[in-house]
Amino acid sequence: MKHIGMFYGSDGGYTENVCQRLIAHFGEDKVDLIDIFGSNVKEISAYDYLIFASSTWHDRHLQDDWNNFVDNLDEIDFSNKTIALLGLGDQEGYGSTFCDSIGLFYEKVKEGKVIGETSTEGYDFDESIAVIDEKFMGLCIDEDSQNELTDQRLKNWYEDIKRDF
Ligand SMILES: Cc1cc2nc3c(=O)[nH]c(=O)nc-3n(C[C@H](O)[C@H](O)[C@H](O)COP(=O)(O)O)c2cc1C
Repeated sequence: MKHIGMFYGSDGGYTENVCQRLIAHFGEDKVDLIDIFGSNVKEISAYDYLIFASSTWHDRHLQDDWNNFVDNLDEIDFSNKTIALLGLGDQEGYGSTFCDSIGLFYEKVKEGKVIGETSTEGYDFDESIAVIDEKFMGLCIDEDSQNELTDQRLKNWYEDIKRDF
């Protein structure tokens, strides 16, 4: 088992691809990349350092596999865990529910040490439950309308979260 467990759900492969690009910063020897489809509470609980990654689908919906699993997170004690949240969304197409996945995750893990909050500057959207006190509770990546910014956003985020990981 590696140091960090990165659990993802991805319908069209975008989230998986972004996870792999983030792992390139950490180095493959540090991160286990695990599809939430087929995973379980025991597997997640084994890690002290976690990254949860999901796209948003429709109003307040995680990617389907994460959506089916998410209530199982209530069985996990996050109080001694460090967690970073990664969301994929589309601010042009879905500007009133942009990257809601981060907000949905946050509600489940907030008793833990949640790291990697980011500024909303540079995004153009109406509403998102990922935002608390004017910050995203994780990193929002928009491969649909701002893919040219993804590499830099991942690099900046890695530089931030690596201090706690
Ligand atoms: C039918 C549909 C609904 C979507 N709903 C949302 C949404 O509510 N909020 C959002 O930010 N993005 C939304 N998206 C955009 C996806 O989250 C985005 O394309 C993401 O990159 C898909 O990642 P995946 O291939 O890993 O699942 C939606 C896309 C589609 C096709």
